[in-house]
Amino acid sequence: MGYIYSEETKELVEAVRDFCNKEVKEPCKEYDRTGEWPREIYQKAMEMQLHMLEIPEEYGGFGLDRVSVAAILEEMAQADAGFALTFAVSNLAVKGTLMFGNEEQKKRVFHKIVEGSFGAFALTEPQAGSDASNVKTTARKEGDTYVLNGRKCFITNGGVAGVYLIMALTDKAKGLKGMSAFIVEAGTPGLSTGKHEDKMGIRCSNTCDVVMEECRIPAENLLGKEGEGFKIAMQILDIARTFVGCLAVGIAQRAMNEAVAYGKERIQFGKPIIKNQAIGFKIADMAIKIETARQMVAHSCRLMDVGFPYGKESAITKCYCSDIAMEVTSEAVQIFGGYGYSREYPVEKLMRDAKIHQIFEGTNEIQRVVISNHVLR
Ligand code: CAA
Repeated sequence: MGYIYSEETKELVEAVRDFCNKEVKEPCKEYDRTGEWPREIYQKAMEMQLHMLEIPEEYGGFGLDRVSVAAILEEMAQADAGFALTFAVSNLAVKGTLMFGNEEQKKRVFHKIVEGSFGAFALTEPQAGSDASNVKTTARKEGDTYVLNGRKCFITNGGVAGVYLIMALTDKAKGLKGMSAFIVEAGTPGLSTGKHEDKMGIRCSNTCDVVMEECRIPAENLLGKEGEGFKIAMQILDIARTFVGCLAVGIAQRAMNEAVAYGKERIQFGKPIIKNQAIGFKIADMAIKIETARQMVAHSCRLMDVGFPYGKESAITKCYCSDIAMEVTSEAVQIFGGYGYSREYPVEKLMRDAKIHQIFEGTNEIQRVVISNHVLR
């Protein structure tokens, strides 16, 4: 038990678990194979209002605290990590608007999402991955509009979002201090989707290039002030990293559950393989890692909920949870033996899904830069 939450959240978590077991877990296996975005599953999830967990009640959402959101996202990730990621990344647009938006922007963005849209967060470009300050997309001010030009890549929900938070330079000469954040709605002329990524894992999530060609938006779509874009992006990522950790915990928990079930039914040398201490110890190590990782997610969320600093803890959570997810899924494949390597069994997918968590929302190497900066400060 990692998360301590209210009775209301408990009911929600149970309803989400039930929904995921019935509607997500099995169908997503086939979508993982085809790489198709499972639109109808997302539609059902939206009917359950899973896309509005973090939107405050006054704007039509649930206004849940971060601990509760983590508990729900972990359930979703146990069923399918790509499915859970779609909601986690949509929440980045919500978090950004909540923290930096004015009243009119909050109403507009939250209304769009509540009505049945996903959000997306667009920072990364081909030359600006870890070096996030090296963004080249520009936003030219013309009267009471901005005109955006550039190409973002690896954007989760890039081809399916209704609203985007896009980082662009309003002053090229100032580098990262000339970066600004913008709200851009899908359907704006000049905004289009580029290359779709054929990924190793999290294949039920949509990842594409987002292209802006003379994309004109009203000046009131500027989030915060001109020049604040880099800090806005970093502060959104500070929160987001805990939720990457949370999804990784979900994957690891599922891998352990699958390994235990298989270990009980697989007979070798006349007994279930789980009766061998070599296997039992592997399971024990998995449990140690999963429980400590989950506690780190919960701790980081609690810091956010009570308003304490969390940047260092969020980076630690992201690193630790994604590393243990790789270890646990790899050991789960080992327990399944030859069958673990086959697509017929569930654990190879979990290993593929786990890998990206060491890479996106800041590689684990970049997290160590963030953590050491905090420690040395
Ligand atoms: N909060 C507030 N301000 C911050 C900050 C934070 N977390 N981090 C940095 N800043 C401020 C600094 O204080 C500094 O401001 P001053 O000059 O006023 O002091 C300014 O920003 C520049 O800071 P740095 O010199 O540390 O910046 P840097 O260029 O060295 O970059 C970095 C730091 C941590 C490496 C950063 O570039 C980074 O996080 N890179 C990884 C990017 C990343 O996570 N990308 C993921 C994309 S999103 C994604 O993957 C989503 C998806 O679809 C799944």
